[in-house]
Formats: sequence, structure tokens, C-alpha cells
Amino acid sequence: MALMQDPTVRRQDRARLELTDGVVRLSFEGRAIVLDAHWLRDRSVEPGQIDRTNRQRMFTPLDIAPDLAVVALSDDGHGSGGRCAVVEFSDGHRATLELDTILRDLGWTIDAEAPPPPEPWTRPLARFPYVDWSEIGWSDAEADPTDIVDFLGAFYRHGYVVLRNTPTDEGTVERVANRIGYISGHNFGWVFDVRAERRPTDLAYTAIELLAHTDEPYRKEPPGIQLLHCIHNEAPGGDSTLVDGLAAAIAMQQEVPRLFEAMVETEVVFRYDMGSDTVVNTGHVLEYDRHGRYRGIRFNTKIDNPIPTPGVELRDWYAGRRWLAAWLNDPAHQVTFRLAPGDVMFMDNHRALHGRTAFDPSRGRRHLQGCYIEHDGPDTMYRLAVRRSSTRTAMQ
Ligand SMILES: [Fe+2]
Repeated sequence: MALMQDPTVRRQDRARLELTDGVVRLSFEGRAIVLDAHWLRDRSVEPGQIDRTNRQRMFTPLDIAPDLAVVALSDDGHGSGGRCAVVEFSDGHRATLELDTILRDLGWTIDAEAPPPPEPWTRPLARFPYVDWSEIGWSDAEADPTDIVDFLGAFYRHGYVVLRNTPTDEGTVERVANRIGYISGHNFGWVFDVRAERRPTDLAYTAIELLAHTDEPYRKEPPGIQLLHCIHNEAPGGDSTLVDGLAAAIAMQQEVPRLFEAMVETEVVFRYDMGSDTVVNTGHVLEYDRHGRYRGIRFNTKIDNPIPTPGVELRDWYAGRRWLAAWLNDPAHQVTFRLAPGDVMFMDNHRALHGRTAFDPSRGRRHLQGCYIEHDGPDTMYRLAVRRSSTRTAMQ
């Protein structure tokens, strides 16, 4: 207990690594696990084991004996990266492994560079997450890394932010996208224009109201993040709406579990068909991984059709879709706001559903430009900003 109260004792010091009868056991704060010899051997960063630049493994599974075992284990005290264990293997290899890295990779301690977990919201946030573009800038040299952490931290917690005061000229959205990640192409090209058109290739390119939806569920992997840049917004109407699909899924699971199950289990065909451009995919309205972790929502009632299966009633699926449509379009659950020229909506297309009110294009211009990036760009940007800001703090 005295150990717990001493602030100079690092958490990794509470870890206990033991070798008994050829089995390595790690215990830490009430948890315990057996670590496989191959898992430990793969973590070796000794000379020749990984490339020094990219840190990728230089040896292959064929270089390791299938009956590999740990033959000795000792504590190497505190190295530069913290407390280490020296592990000797039956193939003669000897590796010094950092315990804090092992604990992090087990998920037993926090990954300090990982983006924060989502915070589901069911009503507008007390403070709208606006971020001034001057805090992000066009390069890392212009930005304070703590501002990057704040910007992306808000995005990961809430599923959206609005960037303010970017330039108002066409093409800005592509530059903003490439500053934060890598613009990704799709069936509308790289950048699409959202304005009322006479022969629209999508209902978004009309002046009608758009209910809460996610974009392009018909793609194998729906776009990760959408950016919508406002160039003109003078027409009456055309206010933007956002709602949290993760919060909707949580509410649905609690309130109508049978309907929730239908949205998770029923396979749906999503089809975009212009004749000249056809994209078809199957998916589920609510998607979770095998561990029950939320992965995303595909909700676009203009192009979805569940696949009938013998013996399975679709009544629950249709009731579930209706329940979700009502929840997601309930003004009490939505945030409604008006984009100003230079604003960029930056939203997670796997979580934040967007919509807009109808507008009157005969009484003013409304022109947005949009594009997509995947999550990898902001994930990388967040991790590097945390690293830069902790390096800076250490140097001060
Ligand atoms: Fe959309």
C-alpha cells in the first residue's frame, strides 16, 4: 500500500513478470496474464531485429522455431524508457523489453498518444466546438501542438467540429483536407459542389430538406470524415444539422433492444445507380466489431434495402429504421447552426449524421464544396502533436 501512495513510484513498478516452468506470467494491479514466447520474441528491438528508420520487423515467422520457449527472465532495472525485463529465448536470442510498452499494448495502461474516446451527446453541447483556422495553420511550423491536440481532441470526443475563418475561395476544402490528412477520391471525384442543380446526381444537389444521414453507405468502406466548406450561404434556409449516431445507437439498445438487434443483424443492400455510375455494397445499419465495440452507422434511407432471409421477419428492421429516423431527426437531439463563408464542417461520417433545412435558391446563393479524408490522417496528426507537445514540455 505504501507503494501506491508514493508519487515517485511509476505504475510500471507495480508490474510483476515471472517465469515458472517455462511459462511467463505478468501481473499488474489485480490483473494477470500468460505471455506467449512468440509474442515476447516479436517485440525484440535488438540490433538486426527491426529497421532503425521505420521500426518494422526484419525477421519473418519462418525464422522462428515453432517450439520457441523462454528460458530465462530477469529484471534489468530502469533504462531510458523505464523499467525493463531481459528475456532469453530457446533460440539463443536475448531481448530487453520495456514494461510500460507491454502494459500499454495490453491495454492495461493508457496510450498517452491515442486520441480520446468518444463522449456521446444527446443535445447540443454547452459550448459549440468552433476552432479558428489560424490555430491550425497550413503547416506544423505555424501551429502550437497543444492547439492541434485541442482541435482533434474535440473532434474525437464529439464527432465533429467547425473550423472557422478559412479562406472563402473555391478549392480551399482540398487544401484543408490535405493539411489534416489525405483527400480521398470517390464516385463524385475529389471535391464535390453542393448547390441546387437542374439535373442533380444526388438529392444533396437540390434545395430540398435533407434529414440526418451518413454519406455513401454503398461504398465498401464509407468515407471516414467529411469536410464541407462554405463559400456562399445567402439563400434563406439551408441551416446545417448534426446528430450523434453513437448516442442514438446507445439509446436504441437501451430502449428498444429487439429493434436494435435487427439493425445490427440484418444485412442491407445500399445502391447508388446513375446508370453511368453504379456503386453497390452490403452492410448493416449499425456495425459493431466482434468484441461489441461500436464501429459505425450507415443511415441513408434514400438508398437502403434490407435483404429478405427465409424465416426472418423484416418487420423489426422497418420498425427499427423508423425509430432511428425519429430519434435522429428529433430537434431535441440535434445541433442546428448556420455556416458562414470560410467555415468548414469537419465530421465523422461513421458517427455524426448531417442534414440541412430546405433553402430558396431564387433568393440568394448557397454553395458549399465538400470532400472526404480517412481517419488515419487525423489519428497520425493527433499522435504526433501529443509527441511534439510532450517533447517541448520536457525541454522547458
Ligand atoms: Fe450528405
